[in-house]
Amino acid sequence: MTILVSNKFILPAFSGLILHGRPGFETELEADFIYRSTTLAGTHSITERHEGLLITSCSIDAPISERSPLLLQHLQQWWPQWIFARQVSACFAFLPALNTQDRIQDLIQAIPSFLHVCDVVFESTDSNEGKSLSRLFKALEARLTDQLRQQGTLRASAPFRLHLVFRDGQTAWLGLSPADASSPWPMGIPRLKMPGGAPSRSTLKLDEALQWLREEDRIRLLKPGMKVVDLGAAPGGWTWQMVQRGMLVTAVDHGSMDKALMQSGMVEHVSADGFVYRPRKTVDWLLCDMVEQPRRIAQLLAQWLQQNHARCIIANLKLPMKRRWEEVQLCLDILHKAARSLPSAPVVRARQLYHDREEITIWVLPSRSEGS
Ligand SMILES: C[S@@+](CC[C@H](N)C(=O)[O-])C[C@H]1O[C@@H](n2cnc3c(N)ncnc32)[C@H](O)[C@@H]1O
Repeated sequence: MTILVSNKFILPAFSGLILHGRPGFETELEADFIYRSTTLAGTHSITERHEGLLITSCSIDAPISERSPLLLQHLQQWWPQWIFARQVSACFAFLPALNTQDRIQDLIQAIPSFLHVCDVVFESTDSNEGKSLSRLFKALEARLTDQLRQQGTLRASAPFRLHLVFRDGQTAWLGLSPADASSPWPMGIPRLKMPGGAPSRSTLKLDEALQWLREEDRIRLLKPGMKVVDLGAAPGGWTWQMVQRGMLVTAVDHGSMDKALMQSGMVEHVSADGFVYRPRKTVDWLLCDMVEQPRRIAQLLAQWLQQNHARCIIANLKLPMKRRWEEVQLCLDILHKAARSLPSAPVVRARQLYHDREEITIWVLPSRSEGS
């Protein structure tokens, strides 16, 4: 069945969503899905649950011709809002018995010829079984993309991304996402290397948080000479990321900072309580990676916002063992209230990133209309 969107694109019929998140957080991912889906009239449920992967069914209350466009519109709207989903696509085919002698043929047949996509991503569960498929993906990728290019399916200007999500070598779901409302990285996982000089592996969390910024935001908000306060900075993985970008960091922690990093001359170490320290003048960035109750951190960030101590924030909230979804909602409530009370109305975002473990990343950024 094919469906027309705004007289412009032809879409397949979608059965539901394919959601990727962190293994062990499927309950939170499900809560996230249920929370989003209340804004789309219909019956929505989880049909399959794998490690870090949920398949949902979405039966939308709308005329048939409007269902696929509606779901894509909602994917667009929901994309910045997901907290526990790193990658999301709308499912249009399930292939339960791929011919292992010629998977390409089966895949090509399942991809409607009217579809135009700018990108093809191979995805799996975030598990050892998923990782074991990487050789198969390499073998399939070049041949499949060649064929899709030849038949005109793959073209740079197309607004959609095609997702091939394999549960194992024989089972796959096919999904579609708006290219500007999904991750270019398979399963939303950027490939980051541990940098040689960084003092701690935590550095990857901030690196990833910065990769998730829109390019225009990275350009306008990360500039050499900018002032940063890093609360809970030791030994300095986050501070190191900002120093690499030419920024000047006040690192607040009773713990000691990496010696080589201090020798850069770009870091001032203040041995103080991060809940008490405040800068004399507004700084460009507040970073916060203190291990503390999430709502205490959210309240601290809200104070910094309301007292105009920082223009931008990236922070980690360490999640409790139980009732994580509720705790995250409570923290976001605190932050949204603080943001709404300001004339500049900064944007609050939250997401569990690949390098986040029992935690989520928070961004608070000036709205786009505000100059850099
Ligand atoms: C997860 S580590 C931070 C790692 C750091 N972001 C990095 O990349 O190397 C948490 C740090 O928070 C610090 N911390 C915890 N409570 C604090 C407080 N109230 N004030 C200042 N630092 C605190 C700890 O001393 C510890 O160094």
